[in-house]
Amino acid sequence: MKKVVVKKEVLERLKLYNPWIYNREIKEFPKNVKSGEIIEITSPKGEFLGIGYINPKSKITVRVLTFEREEINKQFFVNRIKKATEKREGIFKISNGVRIIHSEADELPGIIADYYDGYISLQINTAGMENLRNIILESIIDVLKPKAIIEKSDAKSRLAEGLETEEKVLYGYVPDNITITENGVKFKIDLISGQKTGFYLDQRANREKVSKYVKRGFKVLDLFSNTGGFGIYTALKGADFVKFVDISENAVSLINENLKLNNIESYEIKKADVFDFVKDELKSGLKYDMIVLDPPPFAKSKNEKEGALRGFKYLILNSLKLLNDNGYLAVFSCSHHITYEDLINVTLDALKDTKIKTQYIEYLTQDLDHPYIINIPSTLYLKGFILQKVR
Ligand SMILES: C[S@@+](CC[C@H](N)C(=O)[O-])C[C@H]1O[C@@H](n2cnc3c(N)ncnc32)[C@H](O)[C@@H]1O
Repeated sequence: MKKVVVKKEVLERLKLYNPWIYNREIKEFPKNVKSGEIIEITSPKGEFLGIGYINPKSKITVRVLTFEREEINKQFFVNRIKKATEKREGIFKISNGVRIIHSEADELPGIIADYYDGYISLQINTAGMENLRNIILESIIDVLKPKAIIEKSDAKSRLAEGLETEEKVLYGYVPDNITITENGVKFKIDLISGQKTGFYLDQRANREKVSKYVKRGFKVLDLFSNTGGFGIYTALKGADFVKFVDISENAVSLINENLKLNNIESYEIKKADVFDFVKDELKSGLKYDMIVLDPPPFAKSKNEKEGALRGFKYLILNSLKLLNDNGYLAVFSCSHHITYEDLINVTLDALKDTKIKTQYIEYLTQDLDHPYIINIPSTLYLKGFILQKVR
């Protein structure tokens, strides 16, 4: 096995089991190394640090697969998938839609796999894992015994690794729609043309937490609703009326089906840009008792952070204006680059020049099947909180 020598400065991070090594942190590259090749990682003194894969084309040039001396073979993947599945036993008790493999957070950097009632939606996002594609598939089939596997690899990540986009059924037959039940709530999942790997599983616990503040008679506004997750929970907890807003045609058509599945009758669905919608809604004079703001990752890179915060300020300010007194606002950001402090500061900024006072009610983050490993700070991405508009 070829060896890559890393600089001294990366040793502390590797000691903490953080698996990323950037290009600038490499002291010596192995000769004639291929994209995705398995390599041994050593310190400048020649000590063994781990085994990983290398891609000289990628900014994150080495990703560590193991900090032990072990073979990277089918057994390695079988063991990791079993470990990840066991970790999620509790979630399987409340839902048959579960993220089974969450990349670095499950010691399988470059792989994401979601389980929907026996169907697997899979992403293979790095050259290293691409080279191991066959044993990954065999291991998933052996451990999870899925009905089918569909690949929904992330086009941007693959491009950064010098790979082509992949979106196809790899194993078995995938029907047009699958239904999952999460905390007793039913959702149709469109694995073929749905967003991400199919559904926003990371918000499961937050849908439950936010909806517990609903009182009978509440009017709820679910902004960036996708297929209706938050709004449907609130309707089932007693909200009188829910308005859903999303820009995606696919998402909006699934809201209708999800409402029927859960016997919800009092609602309105708008296919619109939320930024325009809130402006028009303010003019109409309508007010709500709960608003959920769950936008896409506005800041995909550090450069986009400033613009993203301006977007948040606009959305938070207008949402607070659309709330009745004592109403609740749940705000989320799913970008690595935006911190809790950023969200609080932007809220404070939005409150200037208004006579609105808000109370912090509850902290929210990604559900446990999207583990936040403290050793790997980048595994924390979903941040949110519930605020109450107080007098
Ligand atoms: C993070 S997802 C929301 C997930 C949803 N809350 C759930 O629990 O399933 C963000 C959503 O915002 C939608 N979106 C993106 N930009 C938008 C815009 N400008 N106006 C309205 N919707 C938008 C996307 O289609 C996507 O469904």
